[in-house]
Amino acid sequence: MLKKKPVKIAPSILNCNFFNLSGQIREIEKAGADMLHLDIMDGHYVPNISIGPQVVKSLKQNTGLFFDVHLMVSNPDRMLDPFIESGADLITVHAETCTHLHRTLSHIKSAGLKAGIALNPATPLCVLEHVLGLADLVLIMTVNPGFGGQEFIPSMVAKIEALQTMIQNYQYAHDGAKNIEIEVDGGIDTGTARKVVGAGATILVMGTAVCHAESIPKFIAKIRRLV
Ligand code: DX5
Ligand code: ZN
Repeated sequence: MLKKKPVKIAPSILNCNFFNLSGQIREIEKAGADMLHLDIMDGHYVPNISIGPQVVKSLKQNTGLFFDVHLMVSNPDRMLDPFIESGADLITVHAETCTHLHRTLSHIKSAGLKAGIALNPATPLCVLEHVLGLADLVLIMTVNPGFGGQEFIPSMVAKIEALQTMIQNYQYAHDGAKNIEIEVDGGIDTGTARKVVGAGATILVMGTAVCHAESIPKFIAKIRRLV
């Protein structure tokens, strides 16, 4: 029986008030979030534009938070080095955007960062089969990427369960040595958090729920109690 991992909270700043970005990040850090989730959008792969490596670098220089960078861009290879230099601790790429996924993950790992693979709701788990050994994290999109505030797709719960089994099988075959996190992103709130954690999620990305909470520390404490 594998030990249950503690659940980590990763607030996303996508839907926060950018006029007060530093204030909100300070509040997130003080509230004890485990990491900061940074959504990078190029207006091409997804129909929205967010922030680039220069903003990430300025933020990283002013906080001790672990930076979980989620690249939603058409050509992630071109953007890897700028984000590595910006101070990212983990970079997640979408499997759908990588022509040479093994090469892209190897590049991130060789720079000393953690690497993640994101899968859109329609992308099957089988794309992970031959690259799981390079992944520190698999990100299951529980909405179609591009915007905060969308509704959670319920059929993703079964996908998370299947991924948990896939990871357990991988660990069993490799002496349990490797820890691979299951991150979920999109429509996570107090209701959906319990369902995804029950299915095996170990990192909860939360944008709207955290940024629109009356009190960020109280909201994070509530989620921790719930899961
Ligand atoms: C969506 C982004 C998410 C977004 C989640 O494409 O990847 O990280 O910020 O926002 P909520 O929690 O509001 O669904
Ligand atoms: Zn994200």
